[in-house]
Amino acid sequence: MPSKPETAEKVMSLKESMSDWQQRVNSALEKRLPKAKIQPATLHQAMRSSVLLGGKRIRPVLVYAVGQCLNADKNVLDNPACAVEMIHAYSLIHDDLPAMDDDDLRRGQPTCHIRYGEAMAILAGDALQPLAFQILTRSKKFLPAENVLKMTEILAAASGSHGMAGGQAIDLESVGKKLNIAELENMHIHKTGALIRASVQLGALCQPDVSDAQLQALDHYGKCVGLAFQVHDDILDIEAPTETLGKPQGADAALNKPTYPAILGLSESKELALELHEDAISHLDMFDDKAQTLRDLSAYIIGREY
Ligand code: IPE
Ligand code: IPE
Ligand code: MG
Ligand code: MG
Ligand code: MG
Repeated sequence: MPSKPETAEKVMSLKESMSDWQQRVNSALEKRLPKAKIQPATLHQAMRSSVLLGGKRIRPVLVYAVGQCLNADKNVLDNPACAVEMIHAYSLIHDDLPAMDDDDLRRGQPTCHIRYGEAMAILAGDALQPLAFQILTRSKKFLPAENVLKMTEILAAASGSHGMAGGQAIDLESVGKKLNIAELENMHIHKTGALIRASVQLGALCQPDVSDAQLQALDHYGKCVGLAFQVHDDILDIEAPTETLGKPQGADAALNKPTYPAILGLSESKELALELHEDAISHLDMFDDKAQTLRDLSAYIIGREY
């Protein structure tokens, strides 16, 4: 059999790239979080464990994958990657609180409020949010101030009442209601899609030479995979066992949450996730092989086991 042609850049599988970026962001996060012994120590321990113990790191992985697609410097990607993961970790701490989804298992561990109490869990989320922005501003060491301002605005909008927090509000007000497809899509686009879309945009803005056409194509990808991610999360709530999921299976049904499988049915939901994946990757042609990891990531997002 002829051997494969040698290329200057080793082509890595998605698994290898993900593992590389997961390790990279884990070590970057560890360095940027307040040390566990520094006062107020309980708060810092609650923040650290919520960020550092587990998690697939999909949002940072998206930042790195978009950076790779655009030949951005890896060192520039670390701060935005950490910032989105910190916002995500804060959103999970609050999502699990008794006033919200009231879950006691997250990433295979007791949730933050089970370990540290509700008040400390609220504060850990409160403290992670500004820390994310503080870390994002450190990008000014590598990028034009204009890019950093744009990134700050994107992350703020994606986290606030027109983004994740707004989506969570819709989610809580929708319990027990039968939403139509447009309403359900609106909820998912906000509560989960916004931060995933922002991860892609942040990664793109780490390349100062990125063109408007590239930004637009990547944003379309981010929008599609953001929604697909939550459609698949709803599917996993039904299909994946608690031990694999690291969070309680069946939590949505137990709380009477409107989800894609509840409204569309399981097989139509899977079909929709596949359509969103195809839509996402259909906009990446201009990047040729450089976007292969993004294509593979989109497939992973709708096929993952947890
Ligand atoms: C879970 O997100 C919450 C949702 C937005 C659906 P992830 O599935 O990315 O959770 P971790 O970070 O891997 O634990
Ligand atoms: C959570 O959605 C979205 C955010 C945390 C913003 P879910 O409530 O479905 O997330 P899981 O299933 O608890 O991870
Ligand atoms: Mg929730
Ligand atoms: Mg939840
Ligand atoms: Mg869920």
